[in-house]
Amino acid sequence: MTKVRIGIVGVGGIATERHIPAFREFDNVAITCVHDINVERAMVVANQFGIPHVAKKFEEMLDHVDAVVITTPNKFHAPFAIEALNHDKSVLCEKPMALTTEECDAMIAAEQKSKGKLHIAYHYRFMKEAIAAKKIIDKGIIGEPLVIRIKAMRRRKVPGWGVFTNKELQGGGALIDYGCHLLDLAMWLVGSRKPVEVSAQTYNQLSRMPNPVNEWGAFNPETFEVDDHVTAFIRFENNITMLFETSWAANVESDEEHISISGTKGGLNVFEMKVNQADDTLMTTLNIDYIQVEHPFEYLQTENFISSILYHTPLRVKSTEAREVSRIIEAVYLSASNKKAILI
Ligand SMILES: NC(=O)c1ccc[n+]([C@@H]2O[C@H](COP(=O)([O-])OP(=O)(O)OC[C@H]3O[C@@H](n4cnc5c(N)ncnc54)[C@H](O)[C@@H]3O)[C@@H](O)[C@H]2O)c1
Repeated sequence: MTKVRIGIVGVGGIATERHIPAFREFDNVAITCVHDINVERAMVVANQFGIPHVAKKFEEMLDHVDAVVITTPNKFHAPFAIEALNHDKSVLCEKPMALTTEECDAMIAAEQKSKGKLHIAYHYRFMKEAIAAKKIIDKGIIGEPLVIRIKAMRRRKVPGWGVFTNKELQGGGALIDYGCHLLDLAMWLVGSRKPVEVSAQTYNQLSRMPNPVNEWGAFNPETFEVDDHVTAFIRFENNITMLFETSWAANVESDEEHISISGTKGGLNVFEMKVNQADDTLMTTLNIDYIQVEHPFEYLQTENFISSILYHTPLRVKSTEAREVSRIIEAVYLSASNKKAILI
């Protein structure tokens, strides 16, 4: 294989702003084909980036590529991924992995039969703070993890483009779109423990009000079908618990991304990185002044995917791990609609 040939399905915002520029950084890669339900859009993107083929149907793409990047609305992640894997193509699929655990299982079954690999774009794992936090936890510096706190909070930033407020196409709102990133990162940091119980509440009153103030463009409150705010208490095996909150549109003072993990020997905050420890007579908080990472997360995520194809490097985000994130998301929505805790 001289160059890894990449095809992109669904050439909207994340494809043109993140994935296409990231793949173009690599000499051993060529983006050879795009496909979009909006053919005109596909032609514009192909022209803009000098991509030689526009596939009118997804199946036509499979003749031109070794790997497929799926950047469509969430509903189409599973069918495109399964089709590509069935043709032995590797897949980089945007998060969330799929709408349901059942779809995730079908994707994993296709991956197991395929010569291709399946990577889910939980890119927070490639951020420098995440890389440092993983090192600190794996070295045993905080001991056994006990309690995880997550806040993935935006103040009045509902995505006003695309189909983000459409339940059928996206499966949900703030949780499945934004909170899932921090949920995935925290689960990876503590060693991918199994979730066992979820108790949650979802809200969307603020976005359903007429004329909601919003910094990320206009949306229609009358057709706003998804959650804009979610709270959850999640129990994992080994008595680890997580206090979780995410929102696109909360009435809070400012946006906030927070993961902190308390363990038996210490604790850490991921954004801004700090390590908290105590001994007999002292309590200390260490600020991490500099984290040496050679590239930004977009580059590292793309590099990991290409290396997995060329050199069988392990994928940082395993499909089985991304499935557990989807399992929690599904349980959150079920718990909220049934108004009770869900054993999973
Ligand atoms: N990792 C991240 O931080 C991040 C950020 C934004 C979006 N995303 C994910 O990327 C995906 C796309 O988001 P976006 O912001 O680019 O949305 P977008 O609306 O800008 O782009 C989606 C594109 O998919 C096309 N499309 C829709 N249905 C299709 C179909 N059946 N077949 C082929 N093409 C189809 C649309 O025409 C559009 O061009 C979503 O899954 C979203 O969750 C991830």
